[in-house]
Amino acid sequence: MCGIVGYIGNKEAYPILIKGLHRLEYRGYDSAGVALVNAEGNINVYKTKGKVDDLESFTKDKDISGTVGIAHTRWATHGEPNDVNAHPHYSQSKSLAIIHNGIIENYAIIKKDLIKRGFEFQSDTDTEVLVQLIEYIKTTNKVDLQRAVQLALTQVIGAYAIAVVEKGNTNQIVAARKASPLVIGVGDGEFFLASDATPIVEYTKKVIYLNDQEVAVITRNEEIHIKTISDVETTPVVKEIEMSLNELERGGFPHFMLKEIYEQPRRIAEAMRGRINVDRNRVSLAGIIDNKEKFINAKRIIIVACGTSWHAGLIGEYLIEEFCRIPVEVEYASEFRYRNPIIHKDDIVIAISQSGETADTLAAIELAKKSGAFVYGICNVVGSSIPRNTDSGTYTHVGPEIGVASTKAFTAQVTVLALMTLTIARLKKTIEDDLYKRLIHELAEIPEKMEKTLATNAKIKQIAPIFTYAKNFIYLGRGYNYPVALEGALKLKEISYIHAEGYPAAEMKHGPIALIDAEMPVVFIAPHKGIYEKTLSNIQEVKARKGRVFSIITQGDREVRKLSDFCISIPETEECFVPLLASIPLQLLAYHIAIAKECNVDQPRNLAKSVTVE
Ligand code: AGP
Ligand code: GLU
Repeated sequence: MCGIVGYIGNKEAYPILIKGLHRLEYRGYDSAGVALVNAEGNINVYKTKGKVDDLESFTKDKDISGTVGIAHTRWATHGEPNDVNAHPHYSQSKSLAIIHNGIIENYAIIKKDLIKRGFEFQSDTDTEVLVQLIEYIKTTNKVDLQRAVQLALTQVIGAYAIAVVEKGNTNQIVAARKASPLVIGVGDGEFFLASDATPIVEYTKKVIYLNDQEVAVITRNEEIHIKTISDVETTPVVKEIEMSLNELERGGFPHFMLKEIYEQPRRIAEAMRGRINVDRNRVSLAGIIDNKEKFINAKRIIIVACGTSWHAGLIGEYLIEEFCRIPVEVEYASEFRYRNPIIHKDDIVIAISQSGETADTLAAIELAKKSGAFVYGICNVVGSSIPRNTDSGTYTHVGPEIGVASTKAFTAQVTVLALMTLTIARLKKTIEDDLYKRLIHELAEIPEKMEKTLATNAKIKQIAPIFTYAKNFIYLGRGYNYPVALEGALKLKEISYIHAEGYPAAEMKHGPIALIDAEMPVVFIAPHKGIYEKTLSNIQEVKARKGRVFSIITQGDREVRKLSDFCISIPETEECFVPLLASIPLQLLAYHIAIAKECNVDQPRNLAKSVTVE
């Protein structure tokens, strides 16, 4: 969601800001803008609806000089996406310019009050209200910019990451955050500001993560000064980031999504490294071992997440209940947080998130913490808000995921849930030794089997264009493959804009069967495992109504093949690990259908990579 970039140093800011905005494009946005303070201290704001490329065309003949500046890609929440609502926003006298990620929930009441005091507004945004408030406080209280920002933010309800520049001050950016991400990069005589480290890594590995309600003054050639909004000074902690620039580039693939699909064997092996030891028949996750009493005694586990991460959570439910015998509930974080749930002290709440910044998941964590539950995070982005706000957790460690549609992060979440399950099951002695060993050996083989599964790409690419006619798809699976059906359908919806629904296969006859005709593609995840025979009957039911069946089958299976119009084989594996393989052809199917429909797979319309607003 929305991108923030800032620069202050000895170089021209504009090229660095534009490059930074490009690096943040993966987050999804609808307009872009930049504010530069030139050598005379004047603030020049340029902004436009559309892409960063449009902004670049717009600024072609403009004054883009200045060694301090802030830039933004907006994902509209208040006011339609247009030139005026795009950020940065000036204050009334144009002495300040602001960029903002988040939502000022009480903007309407503040706006009303400012209008009474003679302020005029150009845009419909909540953001413009904040910059006007800062100016009002600054002039009436005769305080400096940092103090004015502090005071304004004490009046604000909501979420923000902001950066403000001031007319006449060529040496300073003031930045603050609450519940929206913001990172400061510390270079040699220069500072960077960004929503995440992606635009910063090529310049410096040293970063400071701002905490909630902190206001930082970033001054040329000085140390960074941070105070909370209630004026308590805090010491900035400089951390080293590990991400390399190479990791951010497409590595020869036409799209990040395809690159990330192909990375899965290597990334999943990395996610297991040091955690699984096949020779010693051991799986051990530090986060679980360190808190083993909690997991052994847990009466219940509640998993909270959104979207794809929620689907991974459902697979977690099947794994943990089967092997650890702990009751599990899987909740949409957005529902959980608002429905006054019953949370006990001996519950464990597991929050799953790729980005670690999802607003609803963060709020669910807060709620769980308040109720005294132990909160465990499964997260990909190192140093993001979720790992910083949970009691313990495990990183999926699959590197940055740039494609908006999650792929490798999903299989990594499932892998971590499998590692957790095996660790807990052994501690609780709810798993037979032989089965434990067999599962460890099988899990360790998954990366190699994923590699074999990727060989289905050519066939899927060939089949995919046949489906561009479709307006709807149904995905069906049972047991562990029911969440796989949900995830397959989500992938297709997200990037090809074809409506798709996932169901437990047996639910089909309770309603969705009415939709089936010769036009309707039905994707079955039908490995030769579990209640295979029952799935076979479901396929018969679809064929009897002339539906077009696309099946994911176990290598060598003849029966489903006979009934299917299109078939993709995956290697044999344990039933509980089928999702790790079966998801891959579904990712590829969505990808190739979207490509055949000429859709923008890496940045699908209306979607944002990290949903930092509720
Ligand atoms: C995944 O393809 C989606 N774009 C989306 O559903 C995503 O999984 C969801 O927004 C949760 O994000 P998180 O994992 O970063 O918390
Ligand atoms: N609420 C602000 C707006 O609509 C910021 C949105 C964003 O995070 O991009 O302009």
